[in-house]
Amino acid sequence: MPHLIPLSRLARLVGTSRANLQKMAKSGELATFDGQVDLDEALKHFPDVKLNDEAELKRVEEIKEQALRKKPQEDLPDAHVLHERLRLLGRDYAAVSVKLSHYERTVGWIAERLAEAEEEGETEKGFTDAFMQWLRRELETTPADMERLQALLAKERIMRVINTQVTLLPGEQTFEVNGKESILEAGLRAGLPMPYGCSNGTCGECKCRVAKGEVVKVRPHDFMLSQTEQQQGYTLACSYTAVSDVSLEVATGGPADIPEQTVRARVRDVEVLGGNRIAVHLMTSRAERLRYLAGQRVEIAVNGKSRIVPAASCPCDERRLEVHVECHTPPDDEDLRGPFASLLRNTDVTVRGPIGSFVLDDSSERAVVLVAEGGGFAQIKSILQHALSLEHAPYIALVRLAGEEGLYQENLLKSYAGVLDDFRYIAFDAATPRETVIETVLNETSQIAETDIYVAGSSDFISVLNQRCISAGLPEAQWHAETISKA
Ligand code: FES
Repeated sequence: MPHLIPLSRLARLVGTSRANLQKMAKSGELATFDGQVDLDEALKHFPDVKLNDEAELKRVEEIKEQALRKKPQEDLPDAHVLHERLRLLGRDYAAVSVKLSHYERTVGWIAERLAEAEEEGETEKGFTDAFMQWLRRELETTPADMERLQALLAKERIMRVINTQVTLLPGEQTFEVNGKESILEAGLRAGLPMPYGCSNGTCGECKCRVAKGEVVKVRPHDFMLSQTEQQQGYTLACSYTAVSDVSLEVATGGPADIPEQTVRARVRDVEVLGGNRIAVHLMTSRAERLRYLAGQRVEIAVNGKSRIVPAASCPCDERRLEVHVECHTPPDDEDLRGPFASLLRNTDVTVRGPIGSFVLDDSSERAVVLVAEGGGFAQIKSILQHALSLEHAPYIALVRLAGEEGLYQENLLKSYAGVLDDFRYIAFDAATPRETVIETVLNETSQIAETDIYVAGSSDFISVLNQRCISAGLPEAQWHAETISKA
């Protein structure tokens, strides 16, 4: 009987990345069935998996979490969710037990039928005894690899109690729901543009249909689903969690489907990046979060003045929002220089957005090459963090050309490169000839037809790079660019 498990769970089980498994599946090396892998097949490819080395796996996970600055999630489901997950596990166990008893009875029937056949002279004398001895011996002996399979399966079952996988249809984007978080919280943490409004069970905007699997309520909600909707399997993503692996019909849409929002936020920190550029770290109020896509921009208003700036964070950062601001403006233009000249920690600001359509194609499983020139780094950083969080791309490269303020936030990128096998960071100082940078980009795209390129920088640079990439064979649809103009 095949034991199929999703790629992301297998990745954690055997200590590799989901992108690596995807690469193996794409090359035909690893057999998959509807995006899942049979545990037998997994053992063939990862025979040395250390099933008891929990400490090592945990250590690697912790390093990655630190590097990616992900807030550790509440890992353990609460009693109610745990009860539901164990109930489903118990149901699976009961089904297997019943099947096993049926097989045992079937073995008895085979023995009786063979004995009858022997009595009637249809088989040789002694055949029944010999055959039944062989059969029982085979059934009782556990081959060595069967023990490993059992251990792997037991570990996978425990993982299923702690977290479950959600697949969004029709896009087939997947993410894990940890502990007792709602489906919406987990989807947003994965950086996916799931529809929602209030996020507290009032508006009904997060309504979606459960096509497969089971969900359970984890938050009270005022919005009432009609009886027909309930019968059709509709649920509220902000108030329910998954208790088994679940497929959900959700229209995730693109930038045009995200409504404009205005939310309140507070300045947590102001970081000087270099030259006249600063990073403003914001936290939205507890009841609000901004729905946006990696690569988009927002308008920040403070003290009656406002400015549109790029978001440099991942939508998966929940209530945290980082924007990069170039403060260099003509000294007499106070309005433009305006809101950011005197920002202090704990200043309240208003954020309106999102703005723009330079976003990550989250349905693509191609390699990703990101190119940032000067201040274009903000949006590229946002896209990079989203791509890393999705784990869809088999390979990600960031080619960066410094602006006049030099290279900043490099420690973060170096820590990514240090812990992630499939990420490469290549940086050039501002004096580097553009041709060298372009050649490097082309070198990073060994299979250009299987690559998505995202560039943020000056219009001249973008124009030249575009011509070179398209003539090297990049399909137009896989080219994404954003022109950065000076503040
Ligand atoms: S987001 Fe409003 S009810 Fe779920």
